[in-house]
Amino acid sequence: MRKMVRKPKGILVDGKEINKTKKKMSFNNEVVFGDGLRRRKLSKIGHHDEVFLSRGSKIMEFVSCADILALAARDSVSFQYKRNLWKVYSGRRDGIISRASEVLGNIPSPFSNFTVLKQNFAKKGLDVVDLVVLSGGHTIGVGHCNAFSKRLYNFTGKGDQDPSLDPTYAAFLKTQCKSLSDNTTFVAMDPGSALNFDNHYYVTLKQHKGLFQSDAALLTNEDARNIVQEFLISSTFFGQFAESMVKMGDIEVLTGEQGQIRKRCAFVNS
Ligand code: HEM
Repeated sequence: MRKMVRKPKGILVDGKEINKTKKKMSFNNEVVFGDGLRRRKLSKIGHHDEVFLSRGSKIMEFVSCADILALAARDSVSFQYKRNLWKVYSGRRDGIISRASEVLGNIPSPFSNFTVLKQNFAKKGLDVVDLVVLSGGHTIGVGHCNAFSKRLYNFTGKGDQDPSLDPTYAAFLKTQCKSLSDNTTFVAMDPGSALNFDNHYYVTLKQHKGLFQSDAALLTNEDARNIVQEFLISSTFFGQFAESMVKMGDIEVLTGEQGQIRKRCAFVNS
């Protein structure tokens, strides 16, 4: 396995300069980053894992945008539970090349079947358990009509509906997405529980209300179906989600001298 070069997990600064004493002390999981002169506390989750935002400060020389995203994802999901649901290893560095043309080849499509999804995940070192549990991320958030309306209006090119989609739910979705060309309307991916990070996605899925073909695909394979069943137990889901998030957070990570720490996340340093 690739040896990861990891920085200490926490770096503490004030808005202007790094406080060396605190920096030394901050090996105990304190992570600080942020936005300009105001140092804003984003969340406080236990006394060991405080995350501040203060972009534009010196901290930006040490904490990459990739780490910030990983931490923000962890913290936003953990917030409702008042404890960190998984560990984020820091030390990622930011890429210096970003091409729109490479995106679709590196992320799974909502139109994929199980075989393709399994291959997509395997290419990144993730297995079927990872696929099923990480799809549980669709317990929060929304999907735009164009990612699933083919299932409502033209599933096989004959103006038909996806037979694997619950007909009552499909009828509801049609009231939201009025045509195949609607690419602005969006709906909750886990209706009734879309603001809660929980295992309700699997309840929805088993009711044949998974929004995308890629969600429904998890019921088309026996192994995946059995895993879905296991994640109906909340503690099983949370434990595996944490493990798979750490694994996903370790995919093709730049470390050491690779890449850079972007000063502004939307731009490669000039
Ligand atoms: C299995 C492969 C996956 C596919 C095909 C997929 C596909 C999609 C699509 C099409 C959307 C809707 C985007 C939009 O219409 O705005 C979406 C949203 C989302 N996905 Fe996935 N996704 C996958 C895996 C994941 C994973 C691994 C996670 C995280 C663990 C995740 C978390 C989310 C979240 C939170 C949203 C909601 C974003 C929002 O509300 O704006 N997805 N996904």
